Amino acid sequence: MSDREFDVIVWGATGYTGRLVAAHVLRTHGVGRDLAWAIGGRSSAKLDEVAAEIGAPQSLPWIIADAADPASLDAMVRRASVVITTVGPYQLYGSPLVAACAAAGTDYVDLTGESNWIAVMIAAHEASAKASGARIVFSCGFDSIPFDVGVFFAQEEARRRFGRYAARVRGRVRGLKGGLSGGTLASGMATQAAAQQDPSIGVLLADPFALTPGFKGAPQPDGETPYEDNVTGAWVGPFMMAGINTKAVHRTNFLLGHPWGERFQYDEMQVLAGPPSGAPGGMGGFNFGAGGLPKPGEGPTREERETGFYDLLFIAEEGDGRTVRAAVRGDMDPGYGSTAKILGEAGICLGDTPRETTPGGCWTPASAMGAPLVRRLPAKAGLTFTLEN
Ligand SMILES: NC(=O)c1ccc[n+]([C@@H]2O[C@H](COP(=O)([O-])OP(=O)(O)OC[C@H]3O[C@@H](n4cnc5c(N)ncnc54)[C@H](OP(=O)(O)O)[C@@H]3O)[C@@H](O)[C@H]2O)c1
Repeated sequence: MSDREFDVIVWGATGYTGRLVAAHVLRTHGVGRDLAWAIGGRSSAKLDEVAAEIGAPQSLPWIIADAADPASLDAMVRRASVVITTVGPYQLYGSPLVAACAAAGTDYVDLTGESNWIAVMIAAHEASAKASGARIVFSCGFDSIPFDVGVFFAQEEARRRFGRYAARVRGRVRGLKGGLSGGTLASGMATQAAAQQDPSIGVLLADPFALTPGFKGAPQPDGETPYEDNVTGAWVGPFMMAGINTKAVHRTNFLLGHPWGERFQYDEMQVLAGPPSGAPGGMGGFNFGAGGLPKPGEGPTREERETGFYDLLFIAEEGDGRTVRAAVRGDMDPGYGSTAKILGEAGICLGDTPRETTPGGCWTPASAMGAPLVRRLPAKAGLTFTLEN
């Protein structure tokens, strides 16, 4: 990848998701083979514990860096080509790492779904990332890779088939089973607390164009009200992660120079069994398992991860009624089993992505490495990208 000591550092390896990422990288790359990598965290005792738990050899290096100690972050990021971070809530602990990577020219991938924080990071660090060459790629987990890259995949097929991109794409969650971790819960609560303190954050969270500075596109479809969607062929209702993913998709179009048009429309909804009865809401396939609300460090059991899945449909529409129907499926629970594989592979893929095609700056996954991810995730992360018509 480069002349740095490590191709990749997995920082936050002591957390619930971080240790799954470390386990994935170990499984796919081993230690001392084609990828020079290390785990990172703030406690050597905990890192030792994780290394033993995932079955890593003694030779797996580890690095101590604490979000509260900027010098430790600066030292860490100078040793790596790419830092994969699962240290969250990002709005509480993530900002100094973005600053350090942007300054040092170190590539960065994370799992944040905290759009309010992403907006602040773009404003603060886009210029220094462009200057240093650091590629900062937010939201490289279930939020938002299967959606962002799924839209990209459907659009590439639309161009191949119809000679142009579709002005409207529907994202439809056909099925999903999985749990939530303490870190995810803490991140949601941090966003809620921030919005209570600052009403402008609530406005930002509701704005599909919150991450396209200086650009507001066409009015977007109402993703909140259930309806019988004839194009999908089913009743659909709101999807709890649409707010995050729609912003990423519009930012992808923005960063690529609006190939899908300035009036591009995208909505993301969940397929329902029929007309909704009773009050709207619910977790849409996510659950907290039998043990109640998880604390930081806790999350779904191995069995819950391995029996989880997701099935997404993207319908790209030509104005004349022709469509591309593209499916993205994951082979484990979305938030952790699948996310850990996706994040690890996104980090490695970013390191392999030339700066000539993706220079320094704040990117979305699809705008930074859309086509490489469509090839890599099926080979390494258990995703499938298929066409249904
Ligand atoms: N987008 C997605 O699809 C997706 C999926 C899964 C998770 N996530 C996000 O990923 C994040 C992590 O979730 P999780 O459940 O894995 O959380 P977690 O188990 O609580 O892990 C958090 C990690 O951050 C570390 N940390 C906390 N404060 C730190 C500091 N001052 N310096 C260095 N490290 C520090 C913890 O270290 P210690 O072990 O030393 O405490 C731990 O390694 C959350 O923000 C969550 O929302 C997103």
